[in-house]
Amino acid sequence: MRNETMAIHAGYEPEATTHAVAVPIYQTAAYAFDSADHGAALFNLEAEGFRYSRIANPTSAVLEKRISQLEGGVGALAVATGQAALHFAFVNVADHGGNIVSVPQLYGTTHTLLSHILPRQGITGRFAESDKPEAIEKLIDENTRAVFAETIGNPAGNVCDIEALAKIAHAHGVPLIVDNTVATPILLKPFDYGADIAVHSLTKFLGGHGTTLGGAIVDSGNFPWAKHADRFPAYNRPDTSYHGLVYAERFGRTAYIERARSVYQRTMGSVLSPFNAFLLLQGIETVALRMERHVENAQKVAEFLRKDPRVAWVNYTGFPDSPYYPLVQKYLGGNASSLFTFGIKGGMEAGKTFYDALKLITRLVNIGDAKSLACHPASTTHRQMSAEQQRIAGVLPETIRLSIGIEHSADIIEDIDQALDKACPSRLQAAE
Ligand SMILES: Cc1ncc(COP(=O)(O)O)c(C=O)c1O
Repeated sequence: MRNETMAIHAGYEPEATTHAVAVPIYQTAAYAFDSADHGAALFNLEAEGFRYSRIANPTSAVLEKRISQLEGGVGALAVATGQAALHFAFVNVADHGGNIVSVPQLYGTTHTLLSHILPRQGITGRFAESDKPEAIEKLIDENTRAVFAETIGNPAGNVCDIEALAKIAHAHGVPLIVDNTVATPILLKPFDYGADIAVHSLTKFLGGHGTTLGGAIVDSGNFPWAKHADRFPAYNRPDTSYHGLVYAERFGRTAYIERARSVYQRTMGSVLSPFNAFLLLQGIETVALRMERHVENAQKVAEFLRKDPRVAWVNYTGFPDSPYYPLVQKYLGGNASSLFTFGIKGGMEAGKTFYDALKLITRLVNIGDAKSLACHPASTTHRQMSAEQQRIAGVLPETIRLSIGIEHSADIIEDIDQALDKACPSRLQAAE
């Protein structure tokens, strides 16, 4: 099936009892057992079925199958937020003493997770100087448990060379984990280029309407955990917390995602509510169409900004002179992200006036809504970083991040134009 069809149908057929066409919301905490033996078989992971909604739920299961099919994976786990997905994705490969080698251009909270929170549990985040494969390779050592990158960085908009990163990770016996939130599987399928695990904030383009938080981890099924038994003992030795199960032996290609569910979702419980799974499924039905319009509108807005004398710079990877342009062609089929940044003349103060003058475009910290959104990262999403870390992540004091929505492009441009007028009253003055 193709993207548009999977987004609507994957993972669900009208269910047997009621023939409901929409995915039912199974708002239940638990599921009845036929007998003691049936309950035991479910707990031993021998029988298929549901036992308790912290572990799995039929509405969320449809969402998991849909995202997994869109990514071309062997299984997925839906969780409460993108951050929960990232947390589980990392601790599912790294224990105390392990490190995760990452590109530096990350969403601010993910940067905080790797630089402040996981280190308290003995897992170190190592940030490369850049997203270049050579910079990543320099930091990998015998304690590395994964390489990590955002396929399109938020807010830098950088496009990572997934194929090269995967080759390096695999040469050192570790998986490549990617956050594919900004690209979505509509623009990019990282498993086609060797990534092993994909993580999503479903809150953004996939859900698409800014109503519902959610996250997902998707397993490509391709990382050979048994081959790297010394580096990943948790997959290859009996798990005393789960009656001696050996994940790689028992589950083969789905070992990673089954372990994420049985170990982390079961004991830490960042559960997505079935109602939220339903809302996210509704959103996903139109993601392919929406992404087309996001991309088209963003190009028009970026071109308008670039020609405007009041604007100092526009960091949009769809311009042929962007260093990321060749990667946009290779990985995104030429569809540059609708998330991009720019700065206006007059620096921080003019930037703030512009930001406050927006009328249609909403001031907030979110991306990927049908609505156009603007954010000032230095004072919000990336506030916890040092000035230098901000610079490397693509955040300058004046940077405005836009997430261009699917309204009529002329209305978006008119709003930006009037806000630029307020921030920079004389066009001639700006041109000087
Ligand atoms: C790239 C990226 N990953 C993960 C997240 C975290 O997602 P959530 O807000 O659903 O926890 C965000 C949030 O902005 C993000 O932009």
